[in-house]
Amino acid sequence: MCYDCNMKRYTVTTTSKYDILIASGLLRQTGSALREVFAPCRVCLITDSKVNGLYSQVVMSSLIESGFQPSKIVFPAGEHSKNLTTYANILEALAEECLTRSDVILALGGGVTIDLAGFVAGTYMRGIRYAVIPTSLQAALDTSIGGKAAVNLRSGKNLAGVFWQPSLVLCDPDLLSTLPAANRLDGIAEAVKCAAISDAGLLPRIARGDLEYMIERCISIKKSLVEADERANNLRQLLNFGHTVGHSIEKLSSYSVTHGQAVAKGMIAESRGAYRTGLTNTDISGELADLLESLGFDTRLSSFDAEEVYHLALMDKKIAGGKINMIIPEFLGKCTLHKLSLSELESLITAGLRD
Ligand code: GLY
Repeated sequence: MCYDCNMKRYTVTTTSKYDILIASGLLRQTGSALREVFAPCRVCLITDSKVNGLYSQVVMSSLIESGFQPSKIVFPAGEHSKNLTTYANILEALAEECLTRSDVILALGGGVTIDLAGFVAGTYMRGIRYAVIPTSLQAALDTSIGGKAAVNLRSGKNLAGVFWQPSLVLCDPDLLSTLPAANRLDGIAEAVKCAAISDAGLLPRIARGDLEYMIERCISIKKSLVEADERANNLRQLLNFGHTVGHSIEKLSSYSVTHGQAVAKGMIAESRGAYRTGLTNTDISGELADLLESLGFDTRLSSFDAEEVYHLALMDKKIAGGKINMIIPEFLGKCTLHKLSLSELESLITAGLRD
């Protein structure tokens, strides 16, 4: 296969082993990349109504050229599609076209598509293989790696899902350099999170907009955490910094505050609350807020009610036995897990949302 000579390959070693390939122009070589991993078979492309018009033709042609028999399922774009109804509709469509366990799902899109397609892949016929092509920065840095796949329930975000690792991830940075600003910011929030939990040296590169470095460094941070703790029982939870408050904010706003915007607010609130309740000696919230504002984020927290945020945070998947693992900054670039009682969580949220 004739890839870009600058192609990077990261191998993720979990219960299964798979490659993340990063190369400019990789989208056009989807078929040949899949041929290296899968024997000729049927491939069902799952994508949303926005991405369909942008990229699916290139992908379908490339699959046909490489001898695959592709089909396509398109669902309406947006977080509101990430639910049990869309999930069930996709499963029924796969069954109607008699996709078998030797066939492959190909998720083409952002976080919503990859979450939905991964959950479908992990449950259709008790699990079939899937490959991923992220088309948003957030999906490239986060969702496409590590096999967490879920849909939202009425009670909260990502409450029904599976751990199901992909068999291949194809990241084409050309798709990510022309994203609309708001979409790009969702990815930047994940990059700032990676920097805050494990590498402050990444922050100046984010500020400079060094996309290539950002993608590779974040992928490598996420790969290490996923390999250390595939099922998110401990270390992988560091990737949830800002997400306890962030998910509540997303839900309270009926998802009009996007995931990245909500995580940005969540990181500020959680680090400020941790400092004010004595869980850390260092308050990184000011530095984080300044950086996030300079990158274009709305960092205001005042419109969110602490009691409502706390109530929704009770659905957090890091809660077990009446305690929650919270991600507490030691300093910018290092976070650790602390087990808090629910009343300590409530105090942290209340203190974190106060001006
Ligand atoms: N998005 C956080 C994780 O994959 O663990």
